Amino acid sequence: MGANGLDTTVRDFAIDLARRAGDILIEIRERGLRQDSIHPKLGHFDIVTEADLASEQFILSELAAAFPSYGVMSEETNQRLSDKEWVWIVDPLDGTTNFAHGLPIYAVNIGLAHGGRPVLAVTYEPTYQQTYWAMPGEGAWLRRGNSEFPLRVSQIGDLQHALLATGFQYSRHEGSYDRHAEFAHLDTISQSVRRLGSAALTMAWIAAGHLEAYWETGLKAWDFAPGWLIVEEAGGQLVEFDGSPISLDSQTLIVSNGQPVIVEAIQQTIRRVGAEAALSGALEAGH
Ligand code: IPD
Ligand code: CA
Ligand code: CA
Repeated sequence: MGANGLDTTVRDFAIDLARRAGDILIEIRERGLRQDSIHPKLGHFDIVTEADLASEQFILSELAAAFPSYGVMSEETNQRLSDKEWVWIVDPLDGTTNFAHGLPIYAVNIGLAHGGRPVLAVTYEPTYQQTYWAMPGEGAWLRRGNSEFPLRVSQIGDLQHALLATGFQYSRHEGSYDRHAEFAHLDTISQSVRRLGSAALTMAWIAAGHLEAYWETGLKAWDFAPGWLIVEEAGGQLVEFDGSPISLDSQTLIVSNGQPVIVEAIQQTIRRVGAEAALSGALEAGH
């Protein structure tokens, strides 16, 4: 038995489920995604494909059969957080835009939440057939074949050596959105900033020590719930932009190896860009 009374059979069930969903994605990729199956959700930025739907349908039917009393929150059909005690949180394909273009950076995300926190986390990477998983107090692990490797965040504590990542939400064309200015500034004071197109893998790679920090707004629980636990169990930290603790409803997220200099640089940049945008908005309004 692990923490929260979770049996490792539940963990192995979730790992196997994510892998089998990943096999569906690979199969679709290999035979070629039907172009007429790519549909816009919120304008041309945000798409859903036959692959998202096939993976989700498979995962949800397996979960319903094995855990009929549990709630489910899943991106394409079941968007709201259930009020059940135990809730599966599913992103059947994180990185849809990459997937649709054949870029091999995408994942299947499956988390189990209890009391508003993830208690089981699985991020499966079909491209390398490997799984990042975590349970509270059990550490974070990379499973490849029959081997397992512990995940640990990097020790890099200065900005010049830090490789950062971000993402831009689908509503980025609206209003005064200016996360691009944050990217531009941080890219000049860190080693570099990446925009990888999969929140799930970005977080797994922080846990693995490949990246030092990541910030994004407008993510949903299915994007970050598994990564939350995986990063924490690997020794990292997650906070809102203002430094407060995160929840499954968080709208802002800084995920990091926990090194204060790096987190503070991201926070300062966000504040600076926000203040400049407010000033230029006020000046425009005054004219
Ligand atoms: C998206 C990806 C992307 C992030 C977006 C997410 P999807 O998820 O994680 O990296 O920038 O905010 O919505 O739509 O590919 O599942
Ligand atoms: Ca996603
Ligand atoms: Ca998705």
